[in-house]
Amino acid sequence: MGRYKDTYDAWKRDPEGFWAEAAKEIDWFKPADKILEEKNGLSRWFVGAETNSCWNALDRHVKAGHGDRTALIYDSAMLGRVKKFTYAELLDKVATFAGVLQSHGITKGDRVLIYMPMVPQAAVAMLACARLGAIHSVVFGGFAAKELATRIDDAKPKLIVSASCGLEPGRVIAYKPLMDKAIEMSAHKPAACIVLQREMEEAPLIPGRDFDWKAEMDKAAAANNKPDCVSVAATDPLYVLYTSGTTGKPKGVVRDNGGHMVALKWSMKNVYDIDPGDTFWAASDVGWVVGHSYIVYAPLFHGCTTILFEGKPVGTPDAGTYWRIIAEHGVKALFTAPTAFRAIRKEDPKAELVGKYDLTKFEVLYLAGERADPDTIQWAEQALQRPVIDHWWQTESGWPMVSNPMGIERLPVKHGSPSVPLPGYEIHVVDEACKQVGPNTTGAIVVKLPLPPGCLPTLWENEAGFRESYLADYPGYYKTADAGFLDEDGYLYVMSRTDDIINVAGHRLSTGGMEEVLAAHPDVAECAVIGIADAMKGQVPVGFLVLNAGVARPAAEIEQEAVQLIRERIGPVASFRKAMVVQRLPKTRSGKVLRGTMRKIADGAEWTTPATIDDPAILDEIKTVLERELAR
Ligand code: COA
Ligand code: AMP
Repeated sequence: MGRYKDTYDAWKRDPEGFWAEAAKEIDWFKPADKILEEKNGLSRWFVGAETNSCWNALDRHVKAGHGDRTALIYDSAMLGRVKKFTYAELLDKVATFAGVLQSHGITKGDRVLIYMPMVPQAAVAMLACARLGAIHSVVFGGFAAKELATRIDDAKPKLIVSASCGLEPGRVIAYKPLMDKAIEMSAHKPAACIVLQREMEEAPLIPGRDFDWKAEMDKAAAANNKPDCVSVAATDPLYVLYTSGTTGKPKGVVRDNGGHMVALKWSMKNVYDIDPGDTFWAASDVGWVVGHSYIVYAPLFHGCTTILFEGKPVGTPDAGTYWRIIAEHGVKALFTAPTAFRAIRKEDPKAELVGKYDLTKFEVLYLAGERADPDTIQWAEQALQRPVIDHWWQTESGWPMVSNPMGIERLPVKHGSPSVPLPGYEIHVVDEACKQVGPNTTGAIVVKLPLPPGCLPTLWENEAGFRESYLADYPGYYKTADAGFLDEDGYLYVMSRTDDIINVAGHRLSTGGMEEVLAAHPDVAECAVIGIADAMKGQVPVGFLVLNAGVARPAAEIEQEAVQLIRERIGPVASFRKAMVVQRLPKTRSGKVLRGTMRKIADGAEWTTPATIDDPAILDEIKTVLERELAR
């Protein structure tokens, strides 16, 4: 561990010096007065500095003579269409859309909500906001109108950018009606909406409120209304990204401009071993943090070619799509979630489709978003004959916390571990009293404060919530809400969450949020939702319903309504397909539902009857219902 250890130790000796050095890779309009400022337990990086994220993603590369380099490749496996944008072309589109936003009164600090499928216009809208110093909030397309409404009410956007539709295999998903419904539901109303009309679905526009993307772009271009980058403070927010918390109300993770740029730019070489000009592909969605960081911002800060992929790993048209894209666009590194590989493996167990493509430029596969099971990693290693690198991070961190630092030193891979802490992160495993535990002992995974650049400085307009969620439980540390252990070599193993978050096909969801929805059903007295193991999606949620006394309707009818309710209120992305009516829920004597034990029963793991249980017989009933339902 020579070079990695030297780098990590150099950071530990002088964290501010380390990040000040990394910050030299960024163009600043004004340098920082202070590299790090810590106040009342909160920290801010590059205080006093001024910059612009769009400048660093686009303008500076064009100015340096790289305008002809491909910045973004839109590859739609849904449409069988590829479109490439050079840095100069993307800059022109972004500046023009910034003109559109400006003509609708958007200025520094205003929020713009983006609810779009995987089309290049989504990235254009994000970068145009950055150009003006406006704060974007992208919402994943698989969320229902209610989830969108919650985010509208929290972020209070002046404007929404959306599209007429998204594409899922075999069907067109109308986005605009979902946006309209969300605006109807929300207390806050945006002043305007800009809608991209796609050829497969034309959405009716509401006069005075809705504007057509193309007409607006044409108008701004004709008027040559292409504003320059606005200088913002390094500490000003670039975006707010909502992620599942423990309740139905999502957390608005704030990302600043300066620290975010420094960390992401650093990560491209040191973590991913990518050089400017290389092609990097994060097969995720712009609605998730992976999409923000590694489809849009990091590859562009680094002067790379990024791929924006509209499609699925399987079925669009087959399990060879990933290999086709790698070959066609000369991808050097692919980043996706293990679930994508489980899906590919199911369709093409012998990886026969890999051999059809020329993967000579492809070097490394990176996995994150959920625990990478050793079986999937081994299969991918065999299929690709390349290193498969698991790495661990969260929406909150914005970039990897633990990884094999491929650009510093390629460390031995240990299956089941995302490897070692990166510079910036001092990771401890602690017990409930916040005392460090020894090697190979499971505990809560925490990060010593201050967090490095790029990590969330706070939650959107909710500093108290930030402190309570992340800082209160383990003084001096950031709580990751993951549990696991460090081995004797300092490799981390991330085993589970300590809260009610589950990971469904790499998508982070709250079972608590689902319980809130089910509890609203008029016939439901109480309920519990747990995440159970799923061979493809990692985890899927299932619900248990206890009905109000006297409800005479058939259980199957109510179960079906419960499934529909989650789909309507949270969205199809929840993959909630099973609700079961039970007589009672197993509880401790103090009334706490024994979700952990229910999960073990469902997964067929070993379980014991907890000593604190109120009535042990209930567990047998749960077991019988689960066996019956899961066998269906
Ligand atoms: N807009 C609208 N609906 C969407 C959507 C979007 N952007 N994304 C997903 N959905 C819908 C799907 O159509 C599906 O609906 P259905 O219940 O009517 O079939 C539902 O949400 C669940 O979608 P998904 O989780 O994608 O499951 P799937 O069975 O369609 O596909 C995988 C399974 C593994 C192929 C898919 O999850 C995948 O590609 N995962 C890759 C991992 C990834 O991108 N992770 C992101 C974090 S890195
Ligand atoms: P998200 O905020 O959606 O990125 O989800 C973050 C959560 O996903 C983490 O807190 C973990 O629970 C889980 N996760 C992400 N990457 C990994 C990984 N490599 N190994 C295990 N769990 C992971």
